[in-house]
Amino acid sequence: MNAPSTSNPLLTGILSTAIEAAHVGGKVLQDWIGRFSVSEKSRANLVTEADHASQELIHQTIVARFSDHGFLGEEGLCHESDTSDYRWVIDPLDGTSNYVHGFPYYAVSIGVEKAGELVAGVIFDPNRNETFAATLGGGATLNGQPISTSGETDLSAAMAMASLPVGGDEHDPAIKRFLMSLRHLQTVQRSGSAALNLACVACGRIDAFWSSSLKPWDVAAGVLIVQEAGGAVTNLEGGRIDIMVPDLLATSSRRIGKDLTGILN
Ligand code: IPD
Ligand code: CA
Ligand code: CA
Repeated sequence: MNAPSTSNPLLTGILSTAIEAAHVGGKVLQDWIGRFSVSEKSRANLVTEADHASQELIHQTIVARFSDHGFLGEEGLCHESDTSDYRWVIDPLDGTSNYVHGFPYYAVSIGVEKAGELVAGVIFDPNRNETFAATLGGGATLNGQPISTSGETDLSAAMAMASLPVGGDEHDPAIKRFLMSLRHLQTVQRSGSAALNLACVACGRIDAFWSSSLKPWDVAAGVLIVQEAGGAVTNLEGGRIDIMVPDLLATSSRRIGKDLTGILN
């Protein structure tokens, strides 16, 4: 498979390892279908054996090549490196609720930082066999072909995805934002996988995605993929994105980003 271009051999190796690891994780997820059991980490925050098994094999695949790198993974994986600037940020199954219900919208997400800057990202959708990838400065691809955002600039023609909190009431800021957005956008959906939403912004299937309840593993790969596809990613107020902070607004164009920050705040 073609990958985003880079002349840095280390980054080339990192990206090909991330793609391989994402495919390994995706296969584990599909192999567990029909035989996993479900537990709740907190209310409606589900986890299965597949989440753990996927993370385990992803980690093994990466560590075999980059034993000194740091790791942060959703299912209790946290290893800070004393000797390397690189850190892999892993969601072994983004969209666990969808997975549990048999709704085929979930993915493996692997982002790589160097000294805190995102340098590579891969999102793999095992249902559609779609691999989204990017390297810093090297562009973004879907199954090896270059991708770009829709470039939509007109909110009234735009389709967006929003995340909504579990059990939120009408006073919840995220619900208020959702209601406000309905007046301005053509369509607003909620899908259950932040990583795939970002992938969809990157390849032009949707024009915006926002959330105020994200973790770094939900977005590490997708932020870079959207940026490298020509989209804009900020926090909800239009400021600098920080994957360690839960809010994010990803848009097909700066124009849509600017208009949405006006509406969502
Ligand atoms: C969840 C999904 C969902 C988002 C939640 C995340 P998980 O990840 O990305 O779209 O709204 O905030 O926790 O738990 O399925 O990995
Ligand atoms: Ca997630
Ligand atoms: Ca997860």
